[in-house]
Amino acid sequence: MKALVLSGGAGTRLRPFSHSMPKQLIPVANKPVLEHVLENIVALGVSDIGVVVGDWEPEITAVLGDGSRLGARLTYLRQDKPRGLADCVRVARDFLGDDDFVMYLGDCMLVGGVAEAAEEFARLRPRAYVVVHKVADPSAFGVVEMDPDGTVRRLVEKPRDARSDLALTGVYFFTSAIHRAIDAIGPSARGELEITDAIQWLVTDGAEVRAGRYRGYWKDTGRIDDVLECNRKLLDGLVRRVDGTVDGASELDGAVVVEPGARVTRSRIEGPAIIGAGTLIEDCVIGPHTSVGRDCSLGGSRLGYSIVLDGAEIHRVDRLHGSVIGRFAVVGPVTDDGDRQRLVIGDHSRVQVGGER
Ligand code: DAU
Repeated sequence: MKALVLSGGAGTRLRPFSHSMPKQLIPVANKPVLEHVLENIVALGVSDIGVVVGDWEPEITAVLGDGSRLGARLTYLRQDKPRGLADCVRVARDFLGDDDFVMYLGDCMLVGGVAEAAEEFARLRPRAYVVVHKVADPSAFGVVEMDPDGTVRRLVEKPRDARSDLALTGVYFFTSAIHRAIDAIGPSARGELEITDAIQWLVTDGAEVRAGRYRGYWKDTGRIDDVLECNRKLLDGLVRRVDGTVDGASELDGAVVVEPGARVTRSRIEGPAIIGAGTLIEDCVIGPHTSVGRDCSLGGSRLGYSIVLDGAEIHRVDRLHGSVIGRFAVVGPVTDDGDRQRLVIGDHSRVQVGGER
């Protein structure tokens, strides 16, 4: 079996981050979402992995390389434009050959992995097998209607009036039958070649298509609030490890990871929290549910339920919460020569500063 990971697309809902990085590289528990995805695939014993990339190809290859660090052998497949999930399979046609494959969206987190679904697909070997999850807002997803025995009756992409609350999670198992279905369908109303339509084509053609419920934690990390929530969930499984330096005036409470080369001075870290390699924390209260990337500098600040990306600086800022601070961003107090607040922020940023109280 092979794997196909989809890591192209535009990702505009993750602005401003998607201006400077592909959404699949946003870190959750200090590791890009895409790495979590690849780890779940490698855990199935699948190492031959095609990665569909778009304009962010250089950034993605710089992080993942040939995949050997993760126990994978990666083949990058270039999609010229985000023409839809089924178009990605088309782009990968030569790589996939006639092998079975698992297709995994590069921005979807299934925290417990997908081993159960892979076993069921191998055991029953339907033409296609989709992993679904119960959601409160089905119209934001591809929706599946299925019989109690798991047979899929109908699939609709982002329906206005959903007849089921089971959403496609973004993990699909396919036999080579999917290629004929993709050749048979045309673009949807939004102009994309939808994998949902291709699977529906199989159902209409009388092929066996099955669905399995995923009962673990699942998140599409397409929005900032979902990234923060997913970070919280992953950090909840953290195990304390201190490889960096913590001085005697500091206190670590609960599951705190201090990576190599990080220094914590006169600070309190409330777990779960991660302090990335090479980061300096002085006179701060950090956490819980906070991850700080590599080579950051935080001083005299309080920060909880947040994500700080590599190289960022935060000084003398109190009560930051639910924040995501981009790479090499600088957050500081009002200037010493007055009380004026100064902002130099990029497109589509969101800032909530202290107003009159
Ligand atoms: O999150 C699950 C949902 O993912 C499913 O319920 C939907 O059925 C499915 O269509 C998909 O919907 P999204 O609107 O979330 O898809 P998105 O455009 O975010 O693309 C998913 C991933 O695939 C993302 O990592 C980008 C990548 N992609 C997307 C397109 C359209 C590509 O690599 N190429 C593309 O052409």
